[in-house]
Order: sequence, then structure tokens, then C-alpha cells
Amino acid sequence: MTNHDGRQLASKWAKTEALLSHRALVPHVPPTSHFSSSQLRNMLNTHGMVVIKPVVGTGGNGVIKVERSGFGFTYTFKERSVRFTSFEGLVTALRSRMGRRNYLIQKGIALATVNGRPIDYRVKYVKTFKGWEYRSLVGRIAKRGLFVTNLSQGGDLVLAGQGIRASLGHAYVKEKKRKMRELTVISTRVLEQRFPGISHLGFDYGIDRQGKVWIFEVNTRPH
Ligand SMILES: Nc1ncnc2c1ncn2[C@@H]1O[C@H](COP(=O)(O)OP(=O)(O)O)[C@@H](O)[C@H]1O
Ligand SMILES: [Mg+2]
Repeated sequence: MTNHDGRQLASKWAKTEALLSHRALVPHVPPTSHFSSSQLRNMLNTHGMVVIKPVVGTGGNGVIKVERSGFGFTYTFKERSVRFTSFEGLVTALRSRMGRRNYLIQKGIALATVNGRPIDYRVKYVKTFKGWEYRSLVGRIAKRGLFVTNLSQGGDLVLAGQGIRASLGHAYVKEKKRKMRELTVISTRVLEQRFPGISHLGFDYGIDRQGKVWIFEVNTRPH
């Protein structure tokens, strides 16, 4: 089966690995690993903030943020943050939240914000008989108090240009839109080679406070 063989395409891990096979994409994919307590420790030491997400998941469900701080660790799920003084305490709490599902750990990106609310971007890219075409490029502003921007979690939709202007400034609009389009073209080439038959892609891009563009995930059947 080629087209939409759900299992493999549902895996954020498989798609992230595919993206990492292209040199031009590597700097734009946040460092990612499978979840284990030793990887969590390493990644917190290296990055200070990480995001833990289900390998197979959608809609921002189950996405957890963990930060290292002076007094220990903070874990944030939905609008609730909990502090831990010990790493063991943190891991115990995480594991009970995570249950038996598989998770990955990703470097946390400090997204640029609009009125304190993180914003990221969705690019829809569709294959038609004429070839690949853009369908939309929009910004999604997280519901106040959340770090995930998903519309299903209460995020607000804006035009990408408006979002870039409001979060980073007018001078960034053209360049960041161009960068997201360029990454979309390269990523699609790589993904199509690895997963023949894909035709509807939804790219989630973050732009950090320094203006760097990051690829959070590629949805293979975006809605
Ligand atoms: N590495 C990250 N750093 C910061 N925020 C992230 C990161 N990964 C995901 N997020 C936030 O969580 C949301 C959901 O994550 P995503 O990987 O798109 O999974 P889902 O399939 O649940 O949409 C993203 O839109 C973004 O707002
Ligand atoms: Mg997403």
C-alpha cells in the first residue's frame, strides 16, 4: 500500500526522520529523540526547555512542556504548571500522565508572541493534476494561558502576514513567508520520495523570538 497507509504516516517520528535526511532541513527541525528519562535529562541539560508529544497524535492533545529552572523543573500541561524539586519526581509525574503511549522529546522553541500568546503557522500544500499548489498560509495564536496553538484547543486564526507583523514586525513578513514556502518545497520533495502517494500536506511552522523558522510537524492529511 502506498497512499495514506495510515500507520507509518501517522508517526511524527517517521516523518521527522525523513526530513532529517536532507541537509537543508536539518537546521530547521528541532532536535528530537524518543522519550526516555535519560534522554529527558540530556535534552533538559542541553536545551533548558523541551516539549514531549505523542508519536501518534493530533490537535495538540497530550503535548507537555518541561522547563529546567533554578529550583528544579516545571511541567506544563494545558493551563496547569507543576513544579518539582527532583528530577525523579518530575519523571514519575510525567509517566503517569503519559500512560502507555509512545512519546518523543523535542527541543522547546520559544515562539514569538502576539500580546503574550505564542503564534505559529500552518501551510497547506496540495498535489493536483497540475502539480503541487499552496492552499493557505495562516497564523494560529494560542488561546491565552496555553502554549499550544491548535485551533481545536481554542487557538485563533489570522492571516500569516498579520501574525508575522504583530509578533516580529513588518520587516519580517516577506522573508519569513518566503522561508516557509522554501522549506515546504524541499520537505515535500523529501517526503514524497519516502512516502509515495502523499497529496495533502499541512506544515506546522514555528518562528522563534529571533525570527528563526522551525518545522514542528508535517500533517499528511491536514484538516
Ligand atoms: N518543539 C516545540 N516547541 C514549542 N512548541 C511546540 C513544539 N512542538 C509543538 N509545539 C506546540 O504544540 C502544538 C502541537 O504540536 P504538533 O507537533 O503540531 O502536534 P499536533 O499533531 O498535536 O498538532 C504546535 O502547534 C505548537 O504550538
Ligand atoms: Mg500540529
